[in-house]
Amino acid sequence: MVFFASVPPATVRVANRAGEAAMSIEEEFRARTRATWAAGDWEGFSKLIAPVGQLVIERADIEPGTSVLDVGTGSGGNIAIPAAQRGAEVVGVDVTPELLVTARAHSLAAGVEVEWIEADAQDLPFPDASFDRVISTFGAMFAPDHARAAAELVRVCAPGGRILMTTWVNDGFAGELFKLSGSFMPPPPLGVEPPPLWGVEAHIEDVFRAAGASPLVVRETVDFEFSSVEHAVRTYSDDFGPFVIARRVLEPQGRWDEFVAAFADLVRRFDTSTDGRARIQSAYFLISIGR
Ligand SMILES: C[S@@+](CC[C@H](N)C(=O)[O-])C[C@H]1O[C@@H](n2cnc3c(N)ncnc32)[C@H](O)[C@@H]1O
Repeated sequence: MVFFASVPPATVRVANRAGEAAMSIEEEFRARTRATWAAGDWEGFSKLIAPVGQLVIERADIEPGTSVLDVGTGSGGNIAIPAAQRGAEVVGVDVTPELLVTARAHSLAAGVEVEWIEADAQDLPFPDASFDRVISTFGAMFAPDHARAAAELVRVCAPGGRILMTTWVNDGFAGELFKLSGSFMPPPPLGVEPPPLWGVEAHIEDVFRAAGASPLVVRETVDFEFSSVEHAVRTYSDDFGPFVIARRVLEPQGRWDEFVAAFADLVRRFDTSTDGRARIQSAYFLISIGR
């Protein structure tokens, strides 16, 4: 299964035909990541995981003046802005500047101050021990080098502080969705560790222990509610960036309908409703680390 192949990070530079240095594999992957999350409507879609944000904010014990870093903040509505509304001093970072534009507009509308910075989870532009809380809800898990991202979260967390990260469980709905996409889409480039590895508890332990931290990993679930299976399929197809990109790849190959049918089957498999709606329970890990 290609998703579970773990290969060392690559930073090889290749020259194009004109002899100019092309983007490194890392830069190219970052550009792809950006295009993926800028596609669709993350702002609308992110409301599905709002309950995760609420739980994480509760567990973070944020008080006025607490410094908070939200890594892979997206449009900021799940962690960064609610944290600022509790009086925290918040920085939100993401590799997708398009989402930071939306985030900025939201923080202005909410009347709170948040510093929005374009940055990569595996290369955070902050000195050691900068933040009381380092949080990432399904953000840092998309960095290509998991150990490096984990080490960065640990490095910027102050002594006495706390790291809170969420990742999708491998055999839950979102985990199965990763596997489904992986079976239709081209494999990730050499040097990129696949996000589903974060759905395996032993991997989480390994990457954080390598960074000198002891993670507490708890399995939680979030319910996604749709008016029907078709509504779920439409929402993912129109709003979820990775699906929008998958469609661009699979439609010209004549495989989009097959993918959509397989996704609808997956929704039915996880649907717990009995009233014709679609209520999907998706399992995730809440990782907590005290420093
Ligand atoms: C599933 S969304 C989660 C957004 C947000 N945390 C939330 O809960 O709404 C994933 C986010 O991670 C960002 N991301 C992906 N790879 C990243 C990386 N290497 N460094 C920082 N952000 C990254 C994406 O741009 C996207 O905004």
